[in-house]
Amino acid sequence: MAFVLALFLSFLIGFSQGKLKLGFYSETCPAAESIIRSTVRNAVFADPNMAAVLLRLHFHDCFVEGCDGSILINNVPDPERQAFGHQGVRGFDVIDKAKTQLETACPGVVSCADIVALAARDAIVMTNGPDYPVPTGRRDGRVSNKSLASEMPDVSDSIEKLKAKFFDKGLTEKDLVLLSAAHTIGTTACFFMTHRLFNFIPGGGSDPDINPSFLPELQQKCPQTGDPNVRLPMDEGSEQTFDKHILQNIKDGFAVLESDARLNEDLVTKSVIDSYFGVLNPLFGPSFEADFVQSVIKMGQIGVKTDLLGEIRKKCSSFN
Ligand code: HEM
Repeated sequence: MAFVLALFLSFLIGFSQGKLKLGFYSETCPAAESIIRSTVRNAVFADPNMAAVLLRLHFHDCFVEGCDGSILINNVPDPERQAFGHQGVRGFDVIDKAKTQLETACPGVVSCADIVALAARDAIVMTNGPDYPVPTGRRDGRVSNKSLASEMPDVSDSIEKLKAKFFDKGLTEKDLVLLSAAHTIGTTACFFMTHRLFNFIPGGGSDPDINPSFLPELQQKCPQTGDPNVRLPMDEGSEQTFDKHILQNIKDGFAVLESDARLNEDLVTKSVIDSYFGVLNPLFGPSFEADFVQSVIKMGQIGVKTDLLGEIRKKCSSFN
């Protein structure tokens, strides 16, 4: 099934996407993708939540300065990764591990930005999501500063603001829904959602979008004066499997993140969600998995550098 999907997608997106190419390393570093996949497999076996961590890392990399590994840099004053909008982003050690092996196998060839994109794909596969070919050939950026990450989408953004931030990156409302559905795996800290539970509306009260049968559970897990670092799944009941269950949860008022809940309020984004639950779906309706793949490939093209604006870093956490 995964193989058929991969073939179909190669056909659909052609053999090159923008300036990137499928199989970019097939001659210069044929083992590149298998080295990355086995590093991700080991990391996810050791810590199942690492799959979600790596997928999130790809999003945060792409949304600031394009998908160029700018978030990985750690050896300059005020690096991007310290930005408020990147709070909780992890997975750097897994990328570093893959890079160390790649530098032994084929020094100076595989960019850190490509490692992040390929690791995100492998993470999706590890959680039973779709396998898909990732166009590669990104080069690593030479800029990383936390001031550049001030426009990251935020959980409390209005739906209009979320849409605008995605449009700015060349992504549509449909992409916003599908990419937010990445919250099908992983967890959030109470820090990002307690405000929905107690003082959401002036005068107190909770976000009216929360299903009344879900509210007590959330309030119990994230009490008003509790530990903000306690974590809870974002796709209640299915947080380790990559599937469209999160969209059903959003429809039913079981969204954990406020930004996910907002997707069910807007006519356009709601109709995208509903399209995956038509009476004829999955036989005739759109495929969530295939559509997600198109959106994540599109996200992976944001601001890519394929020329001398970029470099191939020797170490992912430092510029050359
Ligand atoms: C629409 C705007 C988005 C907002 C406001 C948002 C916000 C968040 C927040 C607050 C968390 C919890 C972070 C933590 O506690 O460590 C989170 C987790 C996550 N996000 Fe998003 N996100 C958005 C879009 C995306 C996109 C586009 C992707 C990937 C395609 C993504 C993938 C993930 C994943 C996989 C996690 C779980 C991480 C973990 O378990 O450590 N998110 N997101």
